Amino acid sequence: MRRGLALFAIVSALALGAGLYLTRPEVIAPEEIAGIEPDLARGEHVFHAAGCASCHAADEATGEDRLILSGGHRLVTEFGTFVAPNISQDTEHGIGGWSRAEVVTALVKGTSRDGRHLYPALPYAAYEKAELSDMVSLAAFLETLPADPTPSPPHELSFPFSIRAGIGLWKAVNLGGGWAVDVPEDDPELVRGRYLAEALSHCGECHTPRDPAQGLDTARWFAGAPNPSGKGRIPNITPAGLDWSEDDVAAFLETGFKPDFDVAGGSMTAVVTEMGLLPKEDVAAIAAYVKAVPAAE
Ligand code: HEC
Ligand code: HEC
Repeated sequence: MRRGLALFAIVSALALGAGLYLTRPEVIAPEEIAGIEPDLARGEHVFHAAGCASCHAADEATGEDRLILSGGHRLVTEFGTFVAPNISQDTEHGIGGWSRAEVVTALVKGTSRDGRHLYPALPYAAYEKAELSDMVSLAAFLETLPADPTPSPPHELSFPFSIRAGIGLWKAVNLGGGWAVDVPEDDPELVRGRYLAEALSHCGECHTPRDPAQGLDTARWFAGAPNPSGKGRIPNITPAGLDWSEDDVAAFLETGFKPDFDVAGGSMTAVVTEMGLLPKEDVAAIAAYVKAVPAAE
């Protein structure tokens, strides 16, 4: 872990120099999405599959209140604490004044409206694999949600992680990698499950360990990882760590109940809350994909 930190620090310093030009923030131009007609029902499913409320709703919010995206959820990491911002429709403290291209840019390029790099605590390393039509539908769905005037608190990060320029090099090393797991392209359920799990639901952000460059280690996909928030470990959910049937996995994602009647805890609770709002076929597809991930210790 210390080696990872040192490397990250060196990498950040490098990016400040010559790398700055090569690693400048990218955007999605309005023309790129101009022809896409948003589908609000689809946008709502994407919202739940992608777990936006897990970070952007207030921690204590339940039910309809999870649609108030006032921010405030704290992500405690070894680099400091990230605080999810207000992304409600408030024009001053939220994203009410943002165009759809600006919202899609944040999600798939990790670039904010003011042109700064966003931290990958917003899981754009997953969302970059999403279809633009889904992201446009999601952006349109967000516009139907309430405005909330809560100001976004600042992150609590120490140097050099407080310098956003370093994120550019992280992006250059860690983005654009394609799918982590091979599935038969003629199996629509697995293809769909992989799309949901890898591009939207970002299961790997928690269940996959990181490599020294702080990207997800695709050779140990879903092999379990230290809990980013400090306590305990996130379980291995490959066949090497989990012997549940496909139905067991689907039932767990939907209800939070494990085969032994224990219930989901920790950060998985919010994932289960969102999964319960997805169509059953989508949850079943994710479960099928989980069972198709190769065993890894
Ligand atoms: C794991 C937590 C997490 C999830 C899940 C998440 N976000 Fe975020 N999001 C963050 C954090 C943290 C930031 C702040 C990043 C920064 O300041 O660089 C952020 C920033 C943003 C921003 C930029 C806001 C600004 O003022 O620059 C937008 C827009 C956004 N998120 C939308 C979404 C949407 C839509 C979803 C669901 C598809 C989502 N986020 C899912 C944590 C999350
Ligand atoms: C925000 C972090 C996070 C995300 C994202 C996440 N998980 Fe989890 N997951 C956890 C934690 C923490 C646990 C342990 C919960 C417990 O023991 O009660 C867990 C437990 C599980 C378990 C039960 C394993 C066991 O041995 O009990 C399964 C199955 C699982 N997750 C699948 C998934 C799938 C599939 C996704 C994506 C749709 C996903 N998780 C996304 C954090 C996460």
